[in-house]
Amino acid sequence: MRGYLDAAATSPLLPEAREAMIAALDADAANASSVHAAGHRARTIVEHARQQLAEVCGVRPSEVIFTSGGTEANNLAVIGLALANPRGRHLVTSAIEHPSVLESCAYLQRVHGFDVTEIAVNDRGMTDPSKIESALRPDTALVTVGLANGEVGTVQPVQEIARVSAAAGVLVHTDAVQAAATLPVSMSQGGWPGNQVQAMTIASHKFGGPQGAGALLLRDGIALEPLLHGGGQEHGRRSGTENVVAIAGFAAAVTAHAHRIGARALALASSRDALVERVLAEVPGAQLTGDETERLPGHASFTVPGVSGESLLVALDAAGIAASSGSACAAGNDEPSPVLLAMGVLPELAQTAIRFTLPEPMEPALRDRVVRVMTAEVSRARRLR
Ligand SMILES: Cc1ncc(COP(=O)(O)O)c(C=O)c1O
Repeated sequence: MRGYLDAAATSPLLPEAREAMIAALDADAANASSVHAAGHRARTIVEHARQQLAEVCGVRPSEVIFTSGGTEANNLAVIGLALANPRGRHLVTSAIEHPSVLESCAYLQRVHGFDVTEIAVNDRGMTDPSKIESALRPDTALVTVGLANGEVGTVQPVQEIARVSAAAGVLVHTDAVQAAATLPVSMSQGGWPGNQVQAMTIASHKFGGPQGAGALLLRDGIALEPLLHGGGQEHGRRSGTENVVAIAGFAAAVTAHAHRIGARALALASSRDALVERVLAEVPGAQLTGDETERLPGHASFTVPGVSGESLLVALDAAGIAASSGSACAAGNDEPSPVLLAMGVLPELAQTAIRFTLPEPMEPALRDRVVRVMTAEVSRARRLR
C-alpha cells in the first residue's frame, strides 16, 4: 500500500502471514476440537501457532489464550482477572488507556461496584510509577497500564510499574498491542516488560497478521473468570471454536516480525525522526505530541494549530497518503482526543491532531509529499480564516 502511514490502526499483511493462512485453508482443516483426522489437522495448526507465539513472547504454550483480538483480550484480562481475584474490588489504571481497558474498568465499576483509580499522566503522556505505587491498596485486585500509547506513541515504564506492584503483591496486566508492533516484547526474565508482569495483550493485525485474532498471555496458575461461556476451549478460559486460519496467520506474523524487529525498529526510528524534523521545521506551528525519546519507533504525532485534523486527513488522502487523526476507534468522532486532553492539551488544539505511523521506513519522496500537503493545508486554512 503506497502512501500508507496508518500502521497503528492496521499494519499491511506480511507475506509470511498470507502464506500460512493459505496453507491452513488448503489443509482441509476442520474443527480443532473434533477427534477425526481433519479435526486433528486443525488442532495441529493451532498448537503449532501457540508454540510459536509462546517462544517469541517468553511464555509457556499453556499460557497463551487465543482471542478475537486486542479488545477481547483486554476485556478478558481486566474483567476476568479482577472478578477472579479475592484481594478486593479496587483497580489501578492510567488515564490514557485504550477504550477496551477503560471501558472494562468502567463496566466493573458500574455493575460490580469496583473502585477505579485512574492515574494522571504528564504532558508527554507518561505515567509515573511512584503514583501507581501510592495508589496501591490492600484490596487492589489489578494494575493495568499499557506498554505504549497508540495515539501519541509514548512508551510507559511498565517494568518499574510491575516492580512496585509485585512488591505489594498486586497482579499486573499490560496492553502491549501497540508496543508489540515495533518493539521486542517478552514476559521472560530480563525481557521487556519482563517476568513481573502476569498478563499481556497482543493483537495480530498491528504487526502484519490478519484482523480478528489476538491473545492474552497469562501466567499459569492465575485465576481468571472467563467472559465467553460454552464448549470450554482454550482450557476453559475462552470458549468458542478457534479461528484456525487467522491463528495460523497471526503466529506466522509474530515469528516473521520477531526475526527482523531489531533492525526494523532502528530503521523506522531514523525515518520517523527525519519526518518529525521536517514537519517541525516546515509546517507552521506544528508541535510533536508525546515523549520525544520514549516513543514507539515508527510513531510521529503532531498538533497543527489552526487546521483541523479531519481536514488535514482529507487533504492527505486526496494526495494518496493514509494517516489518522488519532486512534482508529475514535476516527469519525468530532470530540477531541481524551488522551490529549489527559495530557493537558487544550480542546481546540487537540482537535488539530494528526498521526503518522510507519509500516516501513519512508521513501524521501513520500516525506516530501507529506510536508508539502500539510504546509499547503495550513496556508489554505489560514486564508479561509
Ligand atoms: C493499545 C491498543 N489496545 C487495544 C486495541 C484493540 O485491538 P483490536 O483492534 O485487535 O481489537 C488497540 C487497537 O487500536 C490498541 O491500539
